[in-house]
Amino acid sequence: MGVWILGALQGVLGWYMVKSGLVDDPWVSPFRLCAHLMLAFLTCSLLVWYGLKGRYPRHVSLGSNLKQPLTFLTFTLVILTICYGAFVAGMKAGLLYNTFPLMGGDLIPEETFFHKPWYINFFNNPVTVQLTHRFLAFSTLVIMWVYGIKRFQITSSNVEKKWLMGLLGWSLVQVILGVSTLLMHVPYDMAITHQAGALILVLIFLGTQYFKEPFMEDLT
Ligand code: HEM
Repeated sequence: MGVWILGALQGVLGWYMVKSGLVDDPWVSPFRLCAHLMLAFLTCSLLVWYGLKGRYPRHVSLGSNLKQPLTFLTFTLVILTICYGAFVAGMKAGLLYNTFPLMGGDLIPEETFFHKPWYINFFNNPVTVQLTHRFLAFSTLVIMWVYGIKRFQITSSNVEKKWLMGLLGWSLVQVILGVSTLLMHVPYDMAITHQAGALILVLIFLGTQYFKEPFMEDLT
């Protein structure tokens, strides 16, 4: 029932997003695009989580897993990176600074804090939005590898280890897809592959949580 409600909500949100633009030029509100994308990712995640529950019944709670500091940090960084990815797509910020690792020769371009007050740049300045997506993406990569390696060292579950290897491998693929999308000036097929890659990263992370081996002393 819940998934049907989410599906209907997605339709309404899609209409609300399209209503924000798409009149004279192909533009929609980046924030509504982000909400639409996040709801799609949530619906897919719930379908996979309950699919796993049906296929491999076990007592596991994502909520209790997320009480672990490193798990919570990894999850939060992935969600923030996806949000800012949607902002980059919505603002067409990927068409700026198609260079890597620097942005036009600078680590932090001079326009980054062009608007006043400084914090609004994180929501309406395409340069700052792209820089933030880059920063969050590499923070996600580092923290995800710290999480993965720590879990790999303490778990004795081969199933969990396989999901962890998938997570670490796919995190590299997703970053390479992102950098390639940027350097190639955001061709449509690369952008779609990068978006799908983000969903796969979320679903693999969910798999590592579903098959996480419970421990009394679990710091990760
Ligand atoms: C953990 C790593 C990453 C994740 C989870 C991620 C996720 C996303 C998501 C969800 C989008 C929005 C897709 C859409 O709505 O069309 C996006 C867009 C984008 N990302 Fe990433 N990204 C990551 C890494 C990177 C990196 C490292 C770069 C480049 C340095 C990058 C460059 C881009 C660009 C240029 C776009 C805009 C594509 C468009 O205009 O459609 N991403 N990203």
